[in-house]
Amino acid sequence: MKRSRINNMFFMVVLILTVSACQRDLPVTVKDDSLPEYDPTPFKYDLPAYAPRLPRAPADNPTTYEGVSLGRMLFYDKKLSGDNTQSCASCHNQANAFTDSGRRHSVGILGIEGKRNSMPLFNLDFADRFFWDGRARSLEEQALMPIADHSEMAENLPQLVEELKADKRYPAKFYAAFGTTEISEELIAKAIAQFLRSMVSFRSKYDSVRFLNKGFFSESEQRGYELFFSESGGDCFHCHSEGNLLFSTFTFENNGLTAASQIEDFPDPGLGSVSGLTEDYGLFKVPSLRNVALTAPYMHDGRFATLKEVLDFYSDSLHYSLNINYSNLKRSHLEVGGMKLSEDEKWDIIAFLHTLTDGSAIRDSSYSDPFK
Ligand code: HEC
Ligand code: HEC
Repeated sequence: MKRSRINNMFFMVVLILTVSACQRDLPVTVKDDSLPEYDPTPFKYDLPAYAPRLPRAPADNPTTYEGVSLGRMLFYDKKLSGDNTQSCASCHNQANAFTDSGRRHSVGILGIEGKRNSMPLFNLDFADRFFWDGRARSLEEQALMPIADHSEMAENLPQLVEELKADKRYPAKFYAAFGTTEISEELIAKAIAQFLRSMVSFRSKYDSVRFLNKGFFSESEQRGYELFFSESGGDCFHCHSEGNLLFSTFTFENNGLTAASQIEDFPDPGLGSVSGLTEDYGLFKVPSLRNVALTAPYMHDGRFATLKEVLDFYSDSLHYSLNINYSNLKRSHLEVGGMKLSEDEKWDIIAFLHTLTDGSAIRDSSYSDPFK
């Protein structure tokens, strides 16, 4: 009798020790009945069958509805900037395929004008480097950069963590997404990356005509499509390739914007500033041309206000420079300053580019401001 009571007590002590030891390894579980159960639901992409593939998430940050929902809130929350006046959406407006509403260079909270043009945010996961110069290697890595960037949101990250902890809405959202109310920079980045990954756009006129046998290209659009893919026409496809349906190889190229006989001549070194390699100077990420009709102005520095200016450039104003890849941009074209397109041919290519606009993505309420 006595012996079994001791046994029982011993058992209880072991149990209590084990439970408390386990708890230390568990994510912080706040005993608060208002918290939802931690049971995140894997995110299902609403992609048409012809889409090249599903976006891929890193193993340590699977995309879930809860994570996407939190990321969306963070994306639109002005708390993410130093003086609480700017959110990501301030420079990435859904109506403009998440670019900066026609602005050439984005302006941060301190009134500092950056030197680059904002980039569209769709189908991001199909590339493996981000920003015009490729300085971010993943969406997770990218996500915190504009928040901390002095010329953008100029926020102090540890302070942001404190602000979010103090906001009643966030701890429960972090719990639902990650099983912990312990907010951290890493989880902020993961949630934003999940939201960015969820933004896809594959429902343009081009897709309907090519894959759904719905509608027709106009004669001008059809001519533009053929010119785009013809070496004796626009010769655009070596860099803006159709293979992945995104009209970009997502490699880094020099498209002849600036004459440069030595690397110092490039006003913006692009990939060269990241890698330090001479052969990377003047190379920029080839942008996807999906939704391009909505994303003016154009190029890394926003130098062209319209697609017509872009076509005038490719037709007549290409510059010789270091680091041009002649298998993508023909030497014969450079020798005569461009692809030498007639005015009609330029307008045909522009008509084709307009078929890449996806009206459903820019209206999709799952990407819109959750605070409205
Ligand atoms: C002040 C304006 C501004 C704000 C605010 C801003 N961005 Fe950007 N964003 C830009 C500009 C400009 C670029 C291009 C920068 C470069 O290449 O150096 C860019 C590039 C990007 C890219 C790279 C896209 C690609 O295809 O490589 C992503 C992703 C992105 N921003 C997401 C965000 C997120 C998420 C936030 C909020 C945390 C944010 N941005 C806040 C202006 C802004
Ligand atoms: C040698 C590769 C290459 C070829 C060929 C090429 N492009 Fe580009 N394109 C790029 C690169 C790289 C950029 C970004 C350059 C930069 O900002 O410095 C770009 C940018 C653009 C942009 C601006 C997109 C934006 O979001 O700002 C448009 C539009 C465009 N190209 C259309 C075309 C068309 C049309 C053709 C054919 C007439 C063509 N490109 C041929 C590589 C190429």
